[in-house]
Amino acid sequence: QKIERAEEDTVAFTVEDGIAWVKFNRPEKRNCMSPKLNRRMKAVLEELEFRDDVKVLVLTGEGDAWTAGMDLKEYFRETEAQGLGAVRKSQRESYGWFERLRWYEKPTIAMINGWCFGGGYGPLFGCDIAIAAEDAQFGLSEINWGILPGGGASKVAQELMPFRKAMYHAMMGENLTGKQAEEQGLVTEAVPADRLKARVLEICEALKKKDTHALRATKWTMRRMVDMTYDNGLEYQIRAQEALHSFGGAAARKEATRQFLDEKSFKPGLGTFDT
Ligand code: ACO
Repeated sequence: QKIERAEEDTVAFTVEDGIAWVKFNRPEKRNCMSPKLNRRMKAVLEELEFRDDVKVLVLTGEGDAWTAGMDLKEYFRETEAQGLGAVRKSQRESYGWFERLRWYEKPTIAMINGWCFGGGYGPLFGCDIAIAAEDAQFGLSEINWGILPGGGASKVAQELMPFRKAMYHAMMGENLTGKQAEEQGLVTEAVPADRLKARVLEICEALKKKDTHALRATKWTMRRMVDMTYDNGLEYQIRAQEALHSFGGAAARKEATRQFLDEKSFKPGLGTFDT
């Protein structure tokens, strides 16, 4: 049957035990990204970002897709029919939330439960850790319908995958399974579908125990350094660590050091200090 979703309904979310579970919520359209969904996702991410009860954010999909990429009807055809201004607006709405996710203030995990195509590589890259079902399918399908992988997708493949694999992936329009995506660097790890949520939960629980500010500084440092020289990276690390001190970093480090050296209650090589 035909489902007309209100904008609020294109993204679903719940917060449980410090974890925000955010879902692409257009299963009947394989969670493809329409302008409405893009606007809603930006609003949801912003709403969750500074909530004290959110320690980690997981982005997943309702039904059998993570996301089937951009909506060819609502994002492309209908928007293009309205002219350049409308095209730019919808590009900015989608790239805007992909960017928000790349620089999110909390750790983020992509839990890829199924189809992930084209434009979906933007949020895939935006998430810090990506765990896929082994039988999920990843594709730069753009070439199959006569365009290039835009909206960040080709850059994501080129950043994450070995160059020969990325080039083949972009040119051939053949899908990779979750397992192959792991082997080629597109995702962190692939697990059997029935273990997917348990594995993501395990990672969330580990992240929840880390120092929030140190995690944020770490993920930003990793992303910022991609296009820095070694020396600039080193300088950035010094500055970022010093900035961390204004969020209580100096005291946290002192306490962790005390727990290790004096109290002998934990070993940094084997686990996290008690925050
Ligand atoms: N844009 C618009 N509508 C879509 C999209 C999409 N990206 N993906 C799925 N849909 C719609 C279908 O048109 C269909 O609508 P209908 O029920 O009104 O006919 C509905 O979602 C269900 O899709 P089916 O194709 O029937 O689902 P199926 O499970 O057989 O196939 C698959 C799933 C393989 C994901 C298929 O839908 C597909 O190929 N989608 C397009 C994937 C793609 O290439 N996306 C674009 C990437 S490029 C970019 O993002 C710039």
